[in-house]
Amino acid sequence: MALAKLFGKKTTQLTDEVDLGSTAFFQDPYPTYELLRNNQPVAAVKPAGHLLTRHGDILSALASKDLRNAPSRFSVLNKKNADRYEAARLANNILPFIDPPGNTIRRQCLIRSVRAQLDIWQPSLEGVAARQMELFLQGDSEDVIEKYASPLSLNLMCDFIGFENPARNHYKDLSDAFFYLFAPLSDAEKFEQVNNRLARFRSELHQLLELRRANPKADLISKLISAEHESEGLSEDEIIDSCMLVFADGVENVEAGVANVVAAFYQDRDAQEMFHSNEMSLEQLVSEGLRLQTPAQFVPRIACRDMEISGVEIAAETPVFLSLASGNRDTEVFEAAEKMLSGRSAQDLLTFGRGAHSCIGSRLASLQIGAAVKHVIGFGLTPKIPLSKIRFKSRLAHRWPTHYPMTKP
Ligand code: HEM
Repeated sequence: MALAKLFGKKTTQLTDEVDLGSTAFFQDPYPTYELLRNNQPVAAVKPAGHLLTRHGDILSALASKDLRNAPSRFSVLNKKNADRYEAARLANNILPFIDPPGNTIRRQCLIRSVRAQLDIWQPSLEGVAARQMELFLQGDSEDVIEKYASPLSLNLMCDFIGFENPARNHYKDLSDAFFYLFAPLSDAEKFEQVNNRLARFRSELHQLLELRRANPKADLISKLISAEHESEGLSEDEIIDSCMLVFADGVENVEAGVANVVAAFYQDRDAQEMFHSNEMSLEQLVSEGLRLQTPAQFVPRIACRDMEISGVEIAAETPVFLSLASGNRDTEVFEAAEKMLSGRSAQDLLTFGRGAHSCIGSRLASLQIGAAVKHVIGFGLTPKIPLSKIRFKSRLAHRWPTHYPMTKP
């Protein structure tokens, strides 16, 4: 939808609701975010609900007890459907859909295990990233997502979780199914396919769990099993479903994150100069790239009661979407928000959320993306197309590029 049509010329009022599922919005949501921040920071959106675009409102919403994560009673993922659908059973076992205080102990357990596994896994990271780059450089494809970032994140996460099967591509299909939990599932046929793929994913992890019970190894699933009988451990179902969660997060958002950071970097000549003259660290480059091209564009919540946000009435059970991507570019908080800066503090960043549901894999993700980006830039790969020509998947709430062709040296 053209922006001129979206807003009345003089009134700066919306003349039409923003459609979060429209191709135009997926392609470039940032001009819309800016208009909304300036004119209608709590906006009614299609298909339903309200979108928050100001940093301050988003921070308050992330801390609010009146906004919950548990699926609404109208959702197919609601607890009442847990015995009917694989997707609902999964949703009710994993952190993104469980509110405090129910999530606290499970969250602590998963954080401890992920941290411990990170220490063991990290030394292998550089070697895996370098080998994958060699394969990419030898191959015919120019697509740095399909032939570098995607197989790299897949291999890294298979090692992290404990999958040993050398035929790893089908895990990618399974992790892709997982993210349909975070979008409205209105197509019955698609929903059935998603349930079937999730059931296969569960069954593979169940087999792995049995293997590791008998023979533990240095992987995440063995760590979770060893904590199972402690008072703060996870049940068998929760172990399996948490592994699905960690795996899918580590594959999908990370492969997108690599391309997003590289694309943001090649948009900004000053950043390129700073990075090449060591005035900007790799860590800073990743952090700024993810701020400007945030893979998790917005996170959903449900209003627990009738409420008001910045003067806008919101009825109980309404979805409220918190645009982390918009907050990350809010000029009220970020100086020169459209630029990559080397000395920007991480304190206000929203890339990985905040509070009770903040990302527990932010360090793991930043390390993976950093290793990949270092190789892409270090080997002198240069983009064949500007950021404006990259196509993005039509996946609600995410900014995931489809292809990113680069010229090899
Ligand atoms: C660039 C990559 C990533 C991005 C942008 C990202 C972003 C996020 C965001 C924004 C949230 C908060 C959701 C909310 O508030 O509703 C979140 C939650 C989560 N992330 Fe990540 N994530 C990334 C990678 C990872 C990785 C590698 C892992 C693996 C451990 C991971 C595990 C999780 C988990 C388990 C949660 C749920 C926490 C909870 O609900 O308590 N993420 N992520």
